[in-house]
Amino acid sequence: MKKFATLLLCFGAMLSLHAQDKPLYEEPWRPQYHFTPARNWMNDPNGLVYLDSTYHLFYQHNPFANQWGHMSWGHAVSNDLVHWKHLPVAIPEQQDYRIFSGSAVVDVNNTTGFRKGEGPPPMVAVFTAHQEGKNQSQSLAYSLDKGETWTVYDKNPVLDLGKRDFRDPKVSWYEPGGYWLMTVSQPIEKQISFFRSPDLKSWTHLSEFGPEGDTTGIWECPDLFRAPIEGQPGKYKWVIMQSPSPYMQYFIGEFDGTRFKSENKGRILRPDYGPDYYAAVTYNDLPSGMAPVSIGWVNNWRYAGDIPVKPWKSAMSMPRSLSVRQTKKGWVLISQPVYALKELELEKMVDRKDVGIFPFGMPQAGGSWHLTVEWSVGDSDRAQIRLAKGRVHETVVGYDAVRKEVFLDRSKADDFANSEYRKMGKWSIPMELEKGQLKLDIWYDQGIVEVYVNDGQAVLTAQVFPDEQDQELRIGSQRSRSPIRDLVFVPLRSAWK
Ligand code: FRU
Repeated sequence: MKKFATLLLCFGAMLSLHAQDKPLYEEPWRPQYHFTPARNWMNDPNGLVYLDSTYHLFYQHNPFANQWGHMSWGHAVSNDLVHWKHLPVAIPEQQDYRIFSGSAVVDVNNTTGFRKGEGPPPMVAVFTAHQEGKNQSQSLAYSLDKGETWTVYDKNPVLDLGKRDFRDPKVSWYEPGGYWLMTVSQPIEKQISFFRSPDLKSWTHLSEFGPEGDTTGIWECPDLFRAPIEGQPGKYKWVIMQSPSPYMQYFIGEFDGTRFKSENKGRILRPDYGPDYYAAVTYNDLPSGMAPVSIGWVNNWRYAGDIPVKPWKSAMSMPRSLSVRQTKKGWVLISQPVYALKELELEKMVDRKDVGIFPFGMPQAGGSWHLTVEWSVGDSDRAQIRLAKGRVHETVVGYDAVRKEVFLDRSKADDFANSEYRKMGKWSIPMELEKGQLKLDIWYDQGIVEVYVNDGQAVLTAQVFPDEQDQELRIGSQRSRSPIRDLVFVPLRSAWK
């Protein structure tokens, strides 16, 4: 009888587990067109590299739990940066160190000598070997089958300064000099160090950049890349993008093969002005002529482990195509979602010109959509979109013409009780509009909000955790002085089904 009762209990437990656990990619707040691991923890994107029509995405991953730990490189591939296929863990944690962030390159000329006979060029990952509380050094792993299987280099580390904090190497081929260039972080000193190498194995120090700009948090995940100047084909500027915890900043300037010089003129510039964008880096080895593409981690270390989602934790941003623009105030980075995302768009539900000043309301039609609103914002008005709105919840995005700023307010978005998250409700960026012209592109995905202002002049990314019933969308302005010129609402289909 006792046995039977136990059996019954087990069966009951199984049933109730089953009832709670929704199928993968159908759980509450599961993004439908942002990348998430099927299960378990994820942080920084790592080793973004393109080879033979395939975009590789490696990422900081705990294969065993939905919390940070056992750091390893998870792996996924895509042909369009939108539909991803999960692959087995590429580089698992080792006996005496964890696999922290880093990058990957295609060693076309076999400078490493990792390829012995015929076959595709080695794909080489350069990562930080992390020994808790003791040492961080730069190490290699390589793949001779285009990223499918990996071998950890038996003569690691390749760059060790004997420091506790020295991490996140971004390596790429520096064509003008004909050498590998490493951009790596000295987090405590708030500096970025540059090194060069002929073979990825022996490294020579070049210079340091920083501290400069935002020096409030430790510096992590640096990247140095060349971005095209808008409207000037064949012309480029050098960009450093890095993460002064828990946000990001960028510098635009020149790099001469040894040293980077910023032209920010004392301004602090951010690739994203929202709370949830970190550790973004760009792809290596993209086809020539393609603009740099970055991916960032949509989360914030202040509350990352506590967000109420399972069985995965954290998403990646939409891949963003980058360029630079010269403005009256100086250089700015322009970010646009990669075009392939458009292919997920279903039929437009609203497509209206000259809507006027009337407030506009509609159901959100599920949780994944793209809304474009073009406004002529009137004097001292506040033009705003209230989304994921229910009886008590709402997230508000808009432009305040009195304060002259674009804002995102998630302070009433949800009931997520984390105290750090609750402190981080309101976000804004000062912005002067030309003749009141404002264009907001809001990409919403089951609680991830990415707002692109005036075609990518600024971006704000935030995550919110509304209830299932919080489904209303309202567009209008406080003083009815802001006519809407164009309004397009289009639901998106899932990239996972
Ligand atoms: C940034 C970071 C990196 C480190 C990794 C560890 O988010 O702290 O500096 O390599 O995460 O997971």
